[in-house]
Amino acid sequence: MKSNPMSDTPKRKRLVLCMGAHCNAGGRAQPLYDHLRAQLGDPVPAFMAHGPVYWETANCLSYCGAGPNCVLYPDDVWIHHADLPALKAFLDEHLGEDDEG
Ligand code: FES
Repeated sequence: MKSNPMSDTPKRKRLVLCMGAHCNAGGRAQPLYDHLRAQLGDPVPAFMAHGPVYWETANCLSYCGAGPNCVLYPDDVWIHHADLPALKAFLDEHLGEDDEG
């Protein structure tokens, strides 16, 4: 029986921050964007990503009423009604980011 050569490949983590009209109403997602940029660098599309973690923005993640929203794949864990303290705690828990930023 052949094994899937991709099954042992570590999965790259992709963090997606919604910057859509609802999630960023009044600029409320902007501090989240600024923090992610400071912690992880500029957002990049998947084909340009390097390293174990990258992030990108979306125009809508289909949870507009619960925004601002952020999701981490492949874990499929979400932050709804995100604010900066919640994002920092999320990064610390799921990516091991330092919470000093
Ligand atoms: S605008 Fe963010 S989920 Fe729709």
